Amino acid sequence: MKLEGKTAIVTGAGVGLGAGIAQRLFNDGAQVVFADINPDNCQKQVDEIDPSGTRTLVLKTDVTDEQQVEAMVSATVKKFGTVDILINNAGMFTDGSIEETSLAEWNRVIGLNLTAAFLCSRAVIKMMKEKRAGKIINIGSVVAKNQSPNPSAAYATSKAGIHRFTIQLAVESAAYGINVNAIAPGLADTPMGRMLPDEAWNTAINERIPLKRVATPTDIANAVSFLVSQEAEYITGEILDVNGGLVMD
Ligand SMILES: NC(=O)c1ccc[n+]([C@@H]2O[C@H](COP(=O)([O-])OP(=O)(O)OC[C@H]3O[C@@H](n4cnc5c(N)ncnc54)[C@H](O)[C@@H]3O)[C@@H](O)[C@H]2O)c1
Repeated sequence: MKLEGKTAIVTGAGVGLGAGIAQRLFNDGAQVVFADINPDNCQKQVDEIDPSGTRTLVLKTDVTDEQQVEAMVSATVKKFGTVDILINNAGMFTDGSIEETSLAEWNRVIGLNLTAAFLCSRAVIKMMKEKRAGKIINIGSVVAKNQSPNPSAAYATSKAGIHRFTIQLAVESAAYGINVNAIAPGLADTPMGRMLPDEAWNTAINERIPLKRVATPTDIANAVSFLVSQEAEYITGEILDVNGGLVMD
């Protein structure tokens, strides 16, 4: 198995894309930390795939909290010895134009979708630099570069930020053999994706997405599995579109 012996942390692993990614990395042979503010959804998955908990660890973690992030990394190192792979996936969606967005809502979205990736990456980067190896994947979004029919000012801004953060971290860490990339999903079938009203969902499939379907968590997990593998060792600072052709550039 291609990730045998590697340890991965997946944030927001309880449901949706994070669950798909965590299970895929587990199936690829990695030891996987399922970190989520709601650990019950993680535990349900682990009970199915690894009842003895030998290759998994469930951690209740609010990734917007600096101390909880440090504790997440410490607990991972305590159980598995190191962190080889970090998937910054946890995120939230809110719609609303700039005019409609309160400061509290703006800070909440930026805090989870952007600052949390900074906190988690900062907590592992020194360790990765010391061993001159590591893979970090940030989950961005197609809306960072395409105007969505739903105004989503804070969300789109946070995702543009995560794309730029990816490049910054890739530049800072490339000399240490660390690969940092982002995946920019289009509309995906998850609890977050299902927040879109039915009409907008159907219009997306029928009129906007050339491949005529939304993404599944497996589509995104496939891309993650490739980017953290040895086969992708010459790829860094890339924002990989996985969007059914919704945006092509
Ligand atoms: N679903 C889509 O259409 C879509 C499209 C593009 C990008 N994305 C991005 O993909 C990522 C995953 O999206 P999803 O659709 O699976 O979301 P989701 O809302 O379905 O699941 C998010 C998960 O993150 C967890 N979480 C929320 N706040 C947290 C916190 N503070 N700390 C730790 N965990 C927390 C939740 O408990 C949940 O398990 C997000 O970054 C999202 O912005 C999603």
